[in-house]
Amino acid sequence: MLTGAGVSAESGVATFRDSGGLWEGHDVHQVATPEGFAANPDLVLRFYDERRSQVQLVEPNAAHKALARLEQALDDKVTIVTQNVDDLHERAGSTRVIHMHGELLSALCLRCGQRHRWENELASYPPCPSCSQPDLRPDIVWFGEVPYHMDRIEPLLQQADVFVSIGTSGEVYPAAGFVAAAGAYWAKTVELNLQASRSRSLFDRVKEGPATHVVLEWVDEFLADGVRS
Ligand code: OAD
Repeated sequence: MLTGAGVSAESGVATFRDSGGLWEGHDVHQVATPEGFAANPDLVLRFYDERRSQVQLVEPNAAHKALARLEQALDDKVTIVTQNVDDLHERAGSTRVIHMHGELLSALCLRCGQRHRWENELASYPPCPSCSQPDLRPDIVWFGEVPYHMDRIEPLLQQADVFVSIGTSGEVYPAAGFVAAAGAYWAKTVELNLQASRSRSLFDRVKEGPATHVVLEWVDEFLADGVRS
């Protein structure tokens, strides 16, 4: 599974590119690039502090829960690769979750390289719990940086029987290339999205609708029918 902002939209987490999305009100270069951080760290730290506190106020929705139910039924045959930086998959009960774009509830020390679970603010420049230096940044993969865990994701794409893309616009690589990669290795490919993405022609099947409906329906169908879904 590949998930994007659409799976968390009905929990109240803003997507990026929909109308009213995060990138409508913010300059991506200011808040989501290493250069933006270097130019104005206070602004960037405050931006992610706000999102970190928001994400702790929302709850997993029926789509997150349906994916957790799928993992419970199929054990280690299900892995969620998520572009999302929230922890809603985990809070719904999924255990095999790979955060390729980092996590809001994590801080990365620019001095010693350690990552720490982080629930509070970073804009007050707290010391790193490992090295005591006040050099923590949000543990988020910014534009121009290499996503996390590609070494784990590539074999999964090669081995997948079914690749499901949920609530992602497919605008950001390398995630946008995963459907073609999985398809090339003979996975059945399914898109579940409010509205089909630009990559719709690459999928064997597209189901349109809000994630809380279509993911639930698809999981039910899959558990009843298996790989044909
Ligand atoms: P986008 O904002 O680009 O796309 C959101 C997708 O969710 C769209 O395809 C919508 O149709 C769909 N959507 C919206 N509401 C939905 C709902 N209720 N049910 C189902 N689908 C819904 O978000 P992403 O594709 O996740 O990267 O964006 C990819 C990356 O771009 C993000 O991880 C982030 C951003 O820049 C970084 O921050 C590195």
